[in-house]
Amino acid sequence: MSVAGATPTPNFTAVLPLRGTEALLHFDEDQLEFYKKATGIDDLDALKRHLISVQREAYAVRPYTTIVNFYFTDLGLSHVPGYRRMIELGQTRRNPILVDVGCCFGQDLRKAIADGYPQESVLGTDIVPEFWDLGHRLFNTTQETFPIPFLAGDIFDPAFLEPTPPIYTAPSTAAPALSAVRTLNELRGHVSVICVCAIFHLFDTEEAQLRLARALAPLLSFEPGSMIIGWHNGRHEKGYTEGYALRMFCHSPESWTALWDGDVFENGTVRVGARLVEKQRRYMKEGVPTIGMRTFLEWSVTRISPGAPPSLGDTTTRR
Ligand SMILES: C[S@@+](CC[C@H](N)C(=O)[O-])C[C@H]1O[C@@H](n2cnc3c(N)ncnc32)[C@H](O)[C@@H]1O
Repeated sequence: MSVAGATPTPNFTAVLPLRGTEALLHFDEDQLEFYKKATGIDDLDALKRHLISVQREAYAVRPYTTIVNFYFTDLGLSHVPGYRRMIELGQTRRNPILVDVGCCFGQDLRKAIADGYPQESVLGTDIVPEFWDLGHRLFNTTQETFPIPFLAGDIFDPAFLEPTPPIYTAPSTAAPALSAVRTLNELRGHVSVICVCAIFHLFDTEEAQLRLARALAPLLSFEPGSMIIGWHNGRHEKGYTEGYALRMFCHSPESWTALWDGDVFENGTVRVGARLVEKQRRYMKEGVPTIGMRTFLEWSVTRISPGAPPSLGDTTTRR
């Protein structure tokens, strides 16, 4: 299957130039507190210089808008309804394996750990291992001081992550030690939380997004409360949207809900919360720092006990 949307545009330096992007670096209070604490750099100017130098290195590797426009400082996962429930799950379940898919620098998983998710149950994965190394540089850690396992792999490679039917019963084998895992397939049925932030819109057809959902689903533990959580670009009606660098296929809350509750999981076995939010985004427009509004889909898919009501809590769609 073609995954053309996964590869950033080849003439990226023209589409997403770096010049002037320092002006896009911006923190709210929570983000600033997290980045100061997590990097150990308390001085704001020094912190900014540090982030800009890591951004430049990462841009040379692959120019995602997350990097070019400093969206990684937003810690988007922590804003998704269901995030608190995710942290609670981590604190109450035994070996609550969490996988951050397309984790980039690992900023969201570091934030989850800072918020109380047990560090020994977390794993990051990305197709670009250099981003993980740059994450260590960004947060002033090493693999020894921050020993979270990282798996390099392509989520469209079946040898790494294969679409298979979801699992509705307890797995017959114990969960492997995360440090020994080499492919995501080895975690089938053992994962409590899958985080997928700013990923689905990279794959630019409805079919590719369905394939990815079908590949992630079998990783999820059958236990009620196990969840897939994330955000990406969304629309009021499913269809195509022009992004800053990509033409993206985007789901609506309704089509996203139907995809998970019926197309991927058996109808009625998951509770889907999906809402659209309009957010300000900073970007460069013809060389000038600009603020525009974009529409995002924030969502979670939670396994429920047979007979449980299909909707609870964070399922409202806000427009
Ligand atoms: C837009 S960034 C999002 C990063 C992070 N999750 C966030 O919210 O800031 C997309 C990430 O997905 C990774 N990625 C792209 N295609 C992939 C693939 N086929 N398999 C695994 N990771 C992929 C990229 O390397 C990049 O780190």
